[in-house]
Amino acid sequence: MKAIVSGATKGIGKAITLALANEGYDLGLGARNLEELDFLRKEIQAIYPNIEVITKSVDFSQKHETRNFAETFLNYWGDIDILVNNVGVYEEDSLDDLSENGLMNMFNVNFFSAMRLTQPFLPEFKKRKSGHIINICSVLSKKMRKRAVSYSLSKQALYSYTKILRSELRDYDVKVTAILPGSTNTASWDGLDAPVDDFVQPEDVANGVLMAIKSNGLVEEFEIKPINPKY
Ligand SMILES: NC(=O)c1ccc[n+]([C@@H]2O[C@H](COP(=O)([O-])OP(=O)(O)OC[C@H]3O[C@@H](n4cnc5c(N)ncnc54)[C@H](OP(=O)(O)O)[C@@H]3O)[C@@H](O)[C@H]2O)c1
Repeated sequence: MKAIVSGATKGIGKAITLALANEGYDLGLGARNLEELDFLRKEIQAIYPNIEVITKSVDFSQKHETRNFAETFLNYWGDIDILVNNVGVYEEDSLDDLSENGLMNMFNVNFFSAMRLTQPFLPEFKKRKSGHIINICSVLSKKMRKRAVSYSLSKQALYSYTKILRSELRDYDVKVTAILPGSTNTASWDGLDAPVDDFVQPEDVANGVLMAIKSNGLVEEFEIKPINPKY
């Protein structure tokens, strides 16, 4: 069993990666920081010596790097069982300071990375009639946050793409799941005055991913929020 995770070295991506390692998946992992990737590979292999862990430094905001990342694993493995499109960044803007550049930067990481990573694997998923694509969306995939316009739009695009993928791939027995976390205790909140202990924890999101993967049925969505409605 083989799985690819984008943005694997921190937060939600790392929690999902460790959960998949615990299930025995060989792993293809991407992020930009090479040292953190090496550290994670060693951390996993110290606990699970029989798992193959391949790490690759990649900037998922860049079209060619993302395609190249996908092709590396297509050429090496041929097929994969799980693709987790996790990479994403959160930045704030409003209608007043919305810029085309800001919007494009946000779309490149939060939406196009998933599309560019998924498209090359589709023929293989369809041919094998198996596989599971997990897209890490957000509660803001379903509603706008006025102070995070570009982020909300990019996550709504990812959510719509997820629904289109699901309806297309269902005929091929390929599952597609949208994960919609609310505020989650990760590095995304570093430097901000946030009650992170009351937030969703990355492991809670990873548990949702595991539930979707292990389910006999098709988990279309898994939405999880902090109990306190303020967050
Ligand atoms: N945290 C929340 O409250 C929350 C809520 C809802 C949804 N989400 C979504 O959950 C996902 C993960 O968020 P997180 O909070 O866990 O993030 P995080 O803790 O900031 O970790 C981000 C990961 O992605 C990598 N990354 C960031 N930009 C990259 C790029 N351009 N190219 C390659 N790798 C990149 C980072 O490594 P490098 O820096 O080394 O590249 C790191 O491994 C995102 O899609 C986010 O939108 C988060």
